[in-house]
Amino acid sequence: MKNYNIAVIGGDGTGPEVVREAIKVLDAAAKKFELKLNYVEYDFGGERYLRTGEVLPDSAIDELRKFPAILLGAIGHPDVKPGILEKGILLRMRFELEQYINLRPVKLYDERFCPLKDKKPEDIDFVVVRENNEGLYTGAGGFVFKGTANEIAVQESINTRRGIDRCLKYSFEYAMRRHSKTPWNRLKPEDIVAGKRAQLTLSGKTNVLTYAFDLWYRAFNEMGASYPEVKLEYAHIDATTMWFVKNPEWFDVIVTDNMFGDIVTDLGAMIQGGMGIAAGGNINPNGTSMFEPIGGSAPKYTGKNVINPLAAICAGAMMLDFLGEANAAEAIENAVIKIVRGKLKSLAAGKMGYSTTEVGDLVAASV
Ligand code: IPM
Ligand code: MN
Repeated sequence: MKNYNIAVIGGDGTGPEVVREAIKVLDAAAKKFELKLNYVEYDFGGERYLRTGEVLPDSAIDELRKFPAILLGAIGHPDVKPGILEKGILLRMRFELEQYINLRPVKLYDERFCPLKDKKPEDIDFVVVRENNEGLYTGAGGFVFKGTANEIAVQESINTRRGIDRCLKYSFEYAMRRHSKTPWNRLKPEDIVAGKRAQLTLSGKTNVLTYAFDLWYRAFNEMGASYPEVKLEYAHIDATTMWFVKNPEWFDVIVTDNMFGDIVTDLGAMIQGGMGIAAGGNINPNGTSMFEPIGGSAPKYTGKNVINPLAAICAGAMMLDFLGEANAAEAIENAVIKIVRGKLKSLAAGKMGYSTTEVGDLVAASV
């Protein structure tokens, strides 16, 4: 029996509620596929910070490093100044565990829940690869003359050749994997499914950010030469948001920097049916990866048993896929599709027609 140790951080707000349902569903899949999942819970988050004054204990990162995966609920507390928990917990884990990929699938499961007119599940099925360790998120910059009328705030976007190349490499291989019969690390040209062309779109702003995206663009085209099976495309980020609404079927895999990826994936979440269903993985292909629903801690729904747990459940499925359990991951996704199409009235909190725990029960039973 395969055995996996999973760190669980429920975190703030509705985080613990949705993580509980994800674990319920993971356990159902584990039983079916004969896996053993051992969970170790950590209480990091706003409550702990308010109680102890400590955001993350010094030992935390090294302790988390021992796990192949982390399941995270949400970080963000209404009584804590914005930035403290986000930077001190979420971004610190992403950075120190070198989770340099933020993988965000945008997949419509049921056209009833799409805000776009006449778009069907086959039209909205793409993946955004967001660079997750650099760009505007590193904290580089500072103030000059703070608090005076001459105040200057500088926030610098860091783009390293190494950081870009490793992100692009993951993106090209991911694009190949999406159109192949075998897992990507054993991919041979004959494994590519005939007739389905992998496409990788670099989304940037080469017309204005003429340093950062010049480097991205050159690196993208240079690496692309080694992946003749992948069709290369480029779109400016502003145009990309337009295409998300107008022609989402045009996309396959999109790669972009940290800030643009943050923004564009909220739009992606909306066209796939909302935050209730949007999941993501913070991936270190050679280390500890972290999976989370991409929505926030939703304080106003906390403790009411109304929040949609499907995003957390889908994050659990992505985690199993990362661990190499593709069949178990697929079983969860199929169960989610079945419940979304067959049962739910809405994907929004309080409007699903079922409570948080009931949705978890339904998916677990379907697995
Ligand atoms: C996300 C979130 C985070 C981000 C915040 C909470 C720091 O918006 O995961 O998209 O900006 O990356
Ligand atoms: Mn975001």
